[in-house]
Amino acid sequence: MIKFENIGLRYGVGPEVLRDVHFTLAPGSFHFLSGPSGAGKTSLMRLLYLGIQPTRGEMQMFAQNAQQLDRHKKAFLRQKIGVVFQDFRLLQHLSAFDNVALPLRIQGQKEKDIRKNVEELLKWVGLGDHMNRLPHTLSGGQQQRIAIARAVVTKPRLLLADEPTGNLDDEIGYKLMILFEQLNKTGTTIVIATHNEQMMERFRHPRLVLEDGELSVEDAIYATQTKKILDGVY
Ligand SMILES: Nc1ncnc2c1ncn2[C@@H]1O[C@H](COP(=O)(O)OP(=O)(O)O)[C@@H](O)[C@H]1O
Ligand SMILES: [Mg+2]
Repeated sequence: MIKFENIGLRYGVGPEVLRDVHFTLAPGSFHFLSGPSGAGKTSLMRLLYLGIQPTRGEMQMFAQNAQQLDRHKKAFLRQKIGVVFQDFRLLQHLSAFDNVALPLRIQGQKEKDIRKNVEELLKWVGLGDHMNRLPHTLSGGQQQRIAIARAVVTKPRLLLADEPTGNLDDEIGYKLMILFEQLNKTGTTIVIATHNEQMMERFRHPRLVLEDGELSVEDAIYATQTKKILDGVY
C-alpha cells in the first residue's frame, strides 16, 4: 500500500533530515513511529500525507508513484488519508461539531447521517457537552480530540496521527487508542508517531524507529513480513 525506497528529504539548502529511508506498509497494518524529538517523525508524516515531496528516492502510495501525481490526483488520494496534525489545525471559526462534520460535508453526505455520526463520535471522545463550542474556548487536550474525531470520521484507508496522545491524560489516551484499534480492525492502515513508551508497551504494534533521520524497523516478526512484502508474497 505504501512503499518508500531510498527516500531522502532536506528543507531548502539545509542538511538531509531523512536519509535512505526504506519501508513498506501492508494494507491494514498498524505501526508506531518513534524516535527522539528532532529525529524526523513529523517530516516523515508530511511525506506520507503528500504534504511535501522527498528530495530523492521513490515513494509509492496506494500503488501509485507519489512523485508523479497531478494536483487533481493528489487531492483524490488525500481524501483517503486522515491526518491528526501535531498542532491540530482546527478551523477556529467553526464549532467542534462543524470541524468534525466538514470532511463528511465535502464528501456530500446527507446532513441527517452527518449529525448522527458526528454526535456519536464526539460523545465517544468525551466532547458530547462541547459540540457547539469554538476550538479556542477548549483546552489543548480537547482540541486534540476534535482533531482526532475529524481525522477518523470518514473511516480513511490510511490514518496518520502525529503525537496524538501528547496532550491527553492516561485514561483518555487509552480510550483514543481503543478507537484507533477499532478503526484498524475495519481495515484502516495506521501510523502513529509517538514517544509515549507506556502506550507502545500496552498496545503492541511494530515500531518504525527514527534516529537522526535514519529509519529502522524494530520487530523481528514484522521484519520477516516486510521481507515477504518486498519479495512480492503479498
Ligand atoms: N519546515 C522546516 N524547515 C526546516 N527545517 C525543518 C522543518 N521542519 C522540520 N525541520 C527540521 O527537520 C528535523 C526533523 O524535524 P521533525 O520532522 O519535526 O522531527 P520530530 O517530529 O521527530 O521532532 C529537525 O532538525 C527540524 O529542525
Ligand atoms: Mg514532531
